[in-house]
Parts: sequence; C-alpha cells; structure tokens
Amino acid sequence: MGYVTVARVEEIPPGHTQMVQVGSCLILLVNDQGEFYALQGLCGHQNLPLAGGKVWQGVLDCPWHHFQYDIRTGENLYPKRIYPLNALPKLREQISPLRTYPVQVVEEQVQVGVPQSCESSDCRF
Ligand code: FES
Repeated sequence: MGYVTVARVEEIPPGHTQMVQVGSCLILLVNDQGEFYALQGLCGHQNLPLAGGKVWQGVLDCPWHHFQYDIRTGENLYPKRIYPLNALPKLREQISPLRTYPVQVVEEQVQVGVPQSCESSDCRF
C-alpha cells in the first residue's frame, strides 16, 4: 500500500465530500469538522456514487435513497438498525460496510493509502 496525493485541503470544506479516482478505484473523500476520511465511492445499496452526500457528526448520508454510513468504519447505520435482516435477505447484501482507506494530510495535501488492487483493472470499487 502506498499513499497517493488526491486533493488539496482547501478543495474540500468541512461537511463536504469529493470523489476522486485512483487507478480503477472510486474513492470518496470526506471532511468532517476538519478531519479527513476516505471511503469506497459507491453506495452498497445500488452501487450509485456517493458524491454529494451530506456529512454530519461522523455520518455520511447517501444522496440517492439516504442509506447512512459511519465515516470512520464504513459501517451501515441506516437501514441496518431499522429493519429485521431475516425478513429482508436482499438487504443483508446491500448494507455491507463501505471499504475504508487510511488518510494523511501532508503540507495541506490530502493523501490516501490505496492497495495495489486499485492499480489493476479488477478493483471492484
Ligand atoms: S444508492 Fe445509496 S441509498 Fe440507494
């Protein structure tokens, strides 16, 4: 895994997101109150882009149908906590956690640690 510079800090104000592509991986950068996070860029619900999603107190809200994710862990928070998974087996697949990537800020540059799989064409994200 190596770190790749993907944005400048001032390009992503607090509470905002920005989609970047590293090799074949779509990655969503998140600025939550000055802390940066990086997540898989496609929502687990219907594989639609999470670009434009709102961030509030550590939670990312998908702009399409409002699935919600913990930006630190990628865990699905909604609808996972609402619906009985045994009654909705398809939902079980859709609420799998988003992949997360390590982030560092070096001299006002946002850098994401990406696995080698992002450099190949078989990256699913
Ligand atoms: S695509 Fe994200 S909630 Fe439907």
